[in-house]
Amino acid sequence: MVRVSVPATSANLGPGFDTLGVALELRNVIEMDETGIDDVVIEVEGAGAGALEDPEQNMVYQAARRVFERLGFVPNGLLIREQVHIPVARGMGSSAAAIVGGLVAANALVEKRTGRPGLSRDELLRMAVAIEGHPDNVTPAMVGGFTVSCMDPERGPLYLRFPPPRGLRAVVVMPEVQIKGKKTEQSRGVLPGEVSLQDAVYNLNRAALLVAALAQGRTDLLTVAMQDRLHQPYRAALVPGMRSVFQAALSAGALGVALSGAGPSVLALVAESAEPVALAMEAAFQWSGSDARSLTMDLARDGARVLAGPGRERDMLDRPPHWG
Ligand code: HSE
Repeated sequence: MVRVSVPATSANLGPGFDTLGVALELRNVIEMDETGIDDVVIEVEGAGAGALEDPEQNMVYQAARRVFERLGFVPNGLLIREQVHIPVARGMGSSAAAIVGGLVAANALVEKRTGRPGLSRDELLRMAVAIEGHPDNVTPAMVGGFTVSCMDPERGPLYLRFPPPRGLRAVVVMPEVQIKGKKTEQSRGVLPGEVSLQDAVYNLNRAALLVAALAQGRTDLLTVAMQDRLHQPYRAALVPGMRSVFQAALSAGALGVALSGAGPSVLALVAESAEPVALAMEAAFQWSGSDARSLTMDLARDGARVLAGPGRERDMLDRPPHWG
């Protein structure tokens, strides 16, 4: 059996639409094994239990199948067990975690069964981006830390990862609002096809400032550096109270605040006490008519990890040289 843990993620970080992301220390665990019985069995504990067991709808299995096909491996029956701690469809990278977890677990299973090297981390990441459609959640889920992603038509997904500045933590507040239909499709559907040069420059300023501020530990710049005009103003219509939640977070001491991925959750970065920020954000959502709950998490330095032996996990970054 192989066991993989994979972190939650928050994409965009305000201005870095489809580009920036960060891994969060909240992990799903996926176990995968052959059973010897010609069938696919999926067991899910936690969020999504009762809804994710159908292999045709299960993204861990769908991703794993692609690895098996690429490597020409036919599992002799398959058992997938998932412990789902990442809230589903809340903007915390649950689908990216399923995709990355499925790819990494399947790759590890093939390596274990055949004794041969599987796919490199970069090949797995390329597959993950192709499945997800954009790179900003799957990249930090795979490699951890803060990531900057770029889609090059010839070279495919390129990225750089850098470790989170010390002492920075994330507060994510999840409102109970439901976005109808497929959540990400719906919240991409409200975005304009074209934006003004002024708004493009506004975001360019802030996305560049954000990367430089995080790399240099200049957390005093995050309030400005996390501002955005490309997607949040349009998505505000889907997240009642979004602007007042941003304001409440900053007034309570958050360093910066943004919609988490496509929403509806809101992410605040904090340096010191997280609790007043979480309470203020929950209260602002409630004032706008949505019950909300919060999670406070460390930023995750590691991405997907494969269990190496009893009680020991290894980071994908520490894998042998064929992992690139
Ligand atoms: N960049 C993506 C978006 C992240 O904002 O739509 C959510 O999957």
